[in-house]
Amino acid sequence: MIVATENPQIHLRSWGFRDHDSLVRYGNNKLVWRNLTDMFPHPYTHEDAVKWVGIANDPGSSIFLAIDFEGEAIGGVGVIARDGNDFHTGQFGYWLGQPHWGRGVATQAARALKNHAFSGSRFKRLEAPVFAWNPPSMRVLEKVGFVREGTLRKSVLKDGQLIDSVMYAAVRDA
Ligand SMILES: CC(C)(COP(=O)(O)OP(=O)(O)OC[C@H]1O[C@@H](n2cnc3c(N)ncnc32)[C@H](O)[C@@H]1OP(=O)(O)O)[C@@H](O)C(=O)NCCC(=O)NCCS
Repeated sequence: MIVATENPQIHLRSWGFRDHDSLVRYGNNKLVWRNLTDMFPHPYTHEDAVKWVGIANDPGSSIFLAIDFEGEAIGGVGVIARDGNDFHTGQFGYWLGQPHWGRGVATQAARALKNHAFSGSRFKRLEAPVFAWNPPSMRVLEKVGFVREGTLRKSVLKDGQLIDSVMYAAVRDA
């Protein structure tokens, strides 16, 4: 699967075996891990990369794609499908290798992911809880049309600290 972004140098695509090394290169970074749920391991090993590519290629109704720059996976995006009463809600997330920060890539990838997720029939709401210490990610979500819905006080235990998270969400009009 390939999903274009507004930047011709960046697209979203399925994960593959060739991405194991880049997953470790970019994923094994405490500054990345610190802003993600503990589903993302640290340290990030070759075995974690192998496991991830297996999961990402059997996504069910979820979406797991690599951010591709010149053939290299420089990060990842995803929407995790929920069930039951939350059937039409997806948990929206993304991460980017640190050398690529600060150039608008996450914004381009998040916008493309949002449009892609809303182009199918499953997702009517995408939600992204952001750790309170991560204003750059809040800015990314605001740039792609997510709305700040509120603060979830003391909702997250991360890196030994009990912190607030901020709920951002986008809903589909129809
Ligand atoms: C958060 C992350 C995805 C941002 O990626 P990026 O490609 O650097 O983001 P972009 O360049 O598209 O946009 C970042 C925005 O944050 C702004 N920003 C940067 N530092 C900031 C700060 N301290 N406070 C407020 N805004 C800040 C930038 O100026 C930019 O906004 P602008 O375009 O209006 O100038 C990246 O740092 C990352 O992967 N971090 C680790 C994982 C993570 O946080 N994932 C998201 C979990 S919710």
